[in-house]
Amino acid sequence: MGYRLESLPDLLSENLVKSGLKTKFIGRTVISHQSLTSTNAEAKRIAPSAENGTVVVAEVQTIGRGRMERHWHSPRGGIWMSVILKPKIPPSLAFRVNIAASIAVARALEGLYGLEVGIKWPNDLMVGERKVCGTLTEIGAEMDSLEYAVVGIGINANIDPDLFPEEWKATSISGLLGREVLRLELVQSILEELERACEGMATSFDQVMGEWSDRSATLGRKVRIITRDGEFEGRAEALESDGSLRVRKGDGIEERVLAGDCIHLRPAKEMADEGA
Ligand code: BTN
Repeated sequence: MGYRLESLPDLLSENLVKSGLKTKFIGRTVISHQSLTSTNAEAKRIAPSAENGTVVVAEVQTIGRGRMERHWHSPRGGIWMSVILKPKIPPSLAFRVNIAASIAVARALEGLYGLEVGIKWPNDLMVGERKVCGTLTEIGAEMDSLEYAVVGIGINANIDPDLFPEEWKATSISGLLGREVLRLELVQSILEELERACEGMATSFDQVMGEWSDRSATLGRKVRIITRDGEFEGRAEALESDGSLRVRKGDGIEERVLAGDCIHLRPAKEMADEGA
């Protein structure tokens, strides 16, 4: 692609990420690497002794991890980072961290570039029918208390969209805008929005959950759900307060899905045209 911003070094170095960052605790420590196997793996390694809000970022990941044990393609030009959070919540509420991360990225992409971002359940960030970002939260916990959550955020920022195989249904921010973006600005905006979205996580999370639902690209759609136990199709009816998706199957029976993959069966536009 012919739109590299050669004049902008756009490094995600510790000093640059921290400079001018308007947060209280997220990003007080930033650890920046040229290459890592996975920022989540590194963040989990240091999490027990790391301070709340520590950020681990890498220019390249060699074994980037996606949901459902998939590989996450992480070439130069993307944003591959993990934030170590230590909220005082039980492990059962850890899903809120992942939702907060999706909301933070959506707000940042919208605020900086005016992109309309939808969330495909559980937490794929979509522009139209194409994925631009995925999040992966991993936790360390005792029976009744969360020791840490590592929230991994992968954004296809400045990546040639032709590099994504069609079946991935992915694109990049640069591909959508027709120009490269300043990753530093995007990272800082995400960290600021993440801190905002995490406020009150231990008590009332209703506002963020409401936004998660408002931004849902899945609700009302015909979907195929794939879990470890099998797959089925139905209509996505609601998002529950525990983060699960309620799906009504063809026989009228409703299923609540806590973890799995969700495939949108028909483009939203096609459904709107048919009044579905
Ligand atoms: C998904 O499957 O949609 C989640 C992808 C999460 C990728 C990010 S990139 C930074 C962090 N480190 C990883 O190894 N994975 C997450």
